[in-house]
Amino acid sequence: MRCDRLWRHARLATMAGPDMGLIEDGLIAAIDGRIAYAGPAADAPAFDAAERIDCEGRWITPGLIDCHTHIVHAGNRAHEFELRLEGASYEEIARAGGGIVSTMRATRAASEAELVAAALPRVDALIAEGVTTIEVKSGYGLDTANELKMLRAARRLGTERPVSIATTFLGAHALPPEYADDADGYIALVAGEMLPAAIRDGLADALDAFCEGIGFSAEQTEKLFEAATRANLPVKLHAEQLSNQHGAALAARYGALSADHLEYLDEAGVAAMAKAGTVATLLPGAFYFMRETRLPPIAALRAAGVPIALATDCNPGTSPLTSLLLVLNMGATLFHLTVAECLAGVTRNAARALGRADEIGTLEAGKRCDLAIWDIERPAELVYRMGANPLHARIWSGQ
Ligand code: NIG
Ligand code: FE
Repeated sequence: MRCDRLWRHARLATMAGPDMGLIEDGLIAAIDGRIAYAGPAADAPAFDAAERIDCEGRWITPGLIDCHTHIVHAGNRAHEFELRLEGASYEEIARAGGGIVSTMRATRAASEAELVAAALPRVDALIAEGVTTIEVKSGYGLDTANELKMLRAARRLGTERPVSIATTFLGAHALPPEYADDADGYIALVAGEMLPAAIRDGLADALDAFCEGIGFSAEQTEKLFEAATRANLPVKLHAEQLSNQHGAALAARYGALSADHLEYLDEAGVAAMAKAGTVATLLPGAFYFMRETRLPPIAALRAAGVPIALATDCNPGTSPLTSLLLVLNMGATLFHLTVAECLAGVTRNAARALGRADEIGTLEAGKRCDLAIWDIERPAELVYRMGANPLHARIWSGQ
């Protein structure tokens, strides 16, 4: 059987089985950017390969997936960080006109090209760690023109670099100053003008909102979910980050791909997510940076069989983080996840959180050939180290 490239003498964590799908003497063959075979060398058909790569016993995982980022933004919020170190809270800063709205001002002032240029170093940091798919949210434009500008900049990242981009429209991230006393009016604009424009221009793969005391109410969130559902767009939600608004249960009712953060999630929310198959995307970088002390209900999520994903939440306010490997370590140390759960969180379950489980996230025939090849002795090393990067090579779409 002919193939383009063949990786031999590899150890595989296919992430296709419950125990990471480990294979000691593994082989992967790629044809036209897709996996033609991934499994034990002994069971592989005879391949006639244009290129054969000897992995010398290195481990191969699926290319990593960062399924929740705000990586397109201008400026930074180091000053607000200083204020927080002096005792101000995130909510106080937000209510005083800082927070998301301060990044909105910087992002509105930036051109599309400037947003791309600012985001690329962050994207490159993720790529250098074996990341092959990145989700990117809007949400710092907060008017139609600037939300579309952000989403176009996000799409551009995928043409500037060998990486897949999933875009999420997050118009309902914060209330822009123009609508200071009219949250319902802003939601009507998001549902009636911004969302249709994003869909018309093919710029949104999903819709997200910030359901929170300092964000939008469950009722307002539901209006957006209705509009997205009418347009056949999948939904996700920033839910239960700072308080319990019962957002995850609402998201589950709309068949959400994921509910994200979840520190204040209750039992009913867990049950609703389990029933709907909604992924719990946990963001330990934000938990750490915000010095949150309340843990997401990890044992309950696990017991209910809710798939758990992990992501950087890369953003200037609550998680200025561009290392998915550090997120793995934080998932284990802060959130008590096992090595297998951490790795599933940035591969199989992250793919599911993007609605791309048929395409990426495991090493299986038919999926895109996105690989990370590691200089490690055992998969646990990817979770164990802090600040090290054992990536040997990264393959995106077979290249
Ligand atoms: O995921 N919680 C809302 N959104 C972001 C924070 C955005 C910001 O502070 O700029 C988050 O934590
Ligand atoms: Fe976020």
